[in-house]
Amino acid sequence: MKIVMINGQNHKGSTYHAGKLLIDAITIDKQVKEFFLPRDLNHFCLGCYACIEDETKCPYFPEKNIIMQEIEQADLLVFTTPNYCMAPSAPMKAFIDLTFTYWLSHKPRECMFNKKAVVISTTAGAGAREAIKPVARTLAYWGISDIKKFGFTVQAMNWEGVSAEKKLKIKRTLSRQAKILDKNKNKNKKPNVSFKTKLLFNMFAGMQKANMGSSPTERKYWEDKGWIGKERPWKNK
Ligand SMILES: Cc1cc2nc3c(=O)[nH]c(=O)nc-3n(C[C@H](O)[C@H](O)[C@H](O)COP(=O)(O)O)c2cc1C
Repeated sequence: MKIVMINGQNHKGSTYHAGKLLIDAITIDKQVKEFFLPRDLNHFCLGCYACIEDETKCPYFPEKNIIMQEIEQADLLVFTTPNYCMAPSAPMKAFIDLTFTYWLSHKPRECMFNKKAVVISTTAGAGAREAIKPVARTLAYWGISDIKKFGFTVQAMNWEGVSAEKKLKIKRTLSRQAKILDKNKNKNKKPNVSFKTKLLFNMFAGMQKANMGSSPTERKYWEDKGWIGKERPWKNK
């Protein structure tokens, strides 16, 4: 199983360690690639819209592409972000903005419909859910149906400060999820494309057909894939 971990922080604190507990508990043969933000993509979207015409024209394409190529080849995506002021970390939000052409409303990728994702956040008190939400929503708009979310209240500023009892609870929860991932992979079970994903895709196909997309190049992308017609990216996979 190819796993790509996107950490919304450079440091290895509670959130990173929670993500690692999940990945380490996966026993099936695995290759793991880790990225840290902002270390591996230290930019904000300029709003220039160059990507709408040609994604390679984004001023940050070379750095972004290294991450996105790995993501496209992965079976499982693990996103981690601490809760910062009831939201994901700023570098994670910057990553979301910089990859917006991957959304179903723009140029969705066929490979996304086959992936699973896990989004993990830790918080001192409240708000892990608020940090998870924008990340999970983004992955849903990339076309991923199987997204699991785990928020942990750690009452600490770093992993060293987390009580042994809490660490054990986090480990147990994520080990259960790892077992499910192992089982499905052993059975070669592919994720189901949900009704919601299909509905969203069909809605955006209708918009592209009606020339309500962002540009003629975007419409051509959909046309070339056959998605303006009856082709669908999850078919024949
Ligand atoms: C900038 C910043 C904002 C934070 N905002 C909140 C918050 O709104 N609510 C909360 O309970 N904890 C908040 N925290 C605490 C972190 O969410 C918490 O310590 C988290 O477990 C840190 O994860 P890490 O060890 O991976 O960095 C904040 C911490 C920082 C540095």
